[in-house]
Amino acid sequence: MKSLFATIMKEYEGYQTGKMLCYIQDPEIISFAGGLPSSDVFPLDLIQKTAQKALKEDPAQVLQYSSIPGEKELMEAIIDYLRKDGIHIKLDNIMITTSGQHGLDLLGRLFLEPKDVIVADCPTFGGALASFELEDAEYMAKDIEEDGSDVKGMEAGIEDLISRGRKPKFTYVVPDFQNPSGITMSLEKRLALLSMSKKFGIPLIEDSPYRELRYKGENIPSIYSLDKNQGNVIGVYTFSKILCPGLRVGFNIGPSEVIRKFSFIKGANILNTPKLNQDICTAFLREYDLDAHFNRARKYYSEKLHFFLEAMEENFPDDMGVKWTKPEGGLFLWITMPEQINTLELFYEALKEKVAFVPGEVCYPKGYFRYNTMRINFSYPTRDEIVEGVKRLSFVVKKYLTKKKKNTLTK
Ligand SMILES: Cc1ncc(COP(=O)(O)O)c(C=O)c1O
Repeated sequence: MKSLFATIMKEYEGYQTGKMLCYIQDPEIISFAGGLPSSDVFPLDLIQKTAQKALKEDPAQVLQYSSIPGEKELMEAIIDYLRKDGIHIKLDNIMITTSGQHGLDLLGRLFLEPKDVIVADCPTFGGALASFELEDAEYMAKDIEEDGSDVKGMEAGIEDLISRGRKPKFTYVVPDFQNPSGITMSLEKRLALLSMSKKFGIPLIEDSPYRELRYKGENIPSIYSLDKNQGNVIGVYTFSKILCPGLRVGFNIGPSEVIRKFSFIKGANILNTPKLNQDICTAFLREYDLDAHFNRARKYYSEKLHFFLEAMEENFPDDMGVKWTKPEGGLFLWITMPEQINTLELFYEALKEKVAFVPGEVCYPKGYFRYNTMRINFSYPTRDEIVEGVKRLSFVVKKYLTKKKKNTLTK
């Protein structure tokens, strides 16, 4: 059978992060690995009430096939919600997706042919890389800086590619509390990226799952809002991190010609997003006290971040040479270990000590791998687990370094 598989699938071994997570079934493992929002902040009351009501009052409709682009009520609710964030769009600029990952899949399908180049940060979201890998994409990636993308480096890279007849198809960024690094892009960089997009005629993909989850500092305008509907930006959003991931509802926004094509692709790949789940999202936007909900989530997550950073200070003294980002929001931070540490090897050592993380390797575009970094999710474990987990992590690193030293001495 294998010989009949599509060429791209023959070697494909699946989404690396997903595979890593399979190793973490043991309940004794303290996991900083998944990208899980905490179920403590899911609005269960609203979800239960809306689902029960819909199933009781209108089961035939709610369980039926529904519109491909999505429920009009939800799209209108999102349009109103985005207006508060400076984004002014119409119904033909939005399509409901079955999660952010689906939104990324649509992008890949619409824009990419095998070997097409994507401009990206290094590291970037592993799920996006996995999705674009299915289209056999290649990358021109630049190391992310403290204030976001290395725009100058990207521009130089694009010029070089264009001179070789390989104009990139789009630039992919996560400007707010990036998954995996937690880094937020400055206003200057957002504007510079937009100018870059205009200068070269290369669309900018703004993936934005974490925007509401800011714990400190001032909000920075989204790139979509800065573009003022000039058609240079496509926004990818999801309800996964602001409501809950189990509903699998998200939305893409952008120029109408792009949205129209997205809906054709959606019609051919998953058809429609479950109406019941969309109705829950509509109720969330229309009926729920969003300010109270987000404030509760922000307080909850920022405390976890605080505990995590405190535990890092305690367990990783300066002389260990370990560095980590200090995000202003989101669910992740990024740890850079000394060069001699391979975090994939460390991952298996850490499992023995019952602690887990995502080896940074899965967050690097093809051709740009680096082996001494890791992604940490701080939002899911409890306070006690954070304290104990970071202690275990520090122990594992020390043990690994001692073993490496011994091996070098005996060589
Ligand atoms: C940057 C980014 N984009 C997209 C997604 C996918 O979101 P969803 O769970 O809705 O598929 C995630 C999830 O972790 C993410 O971090």
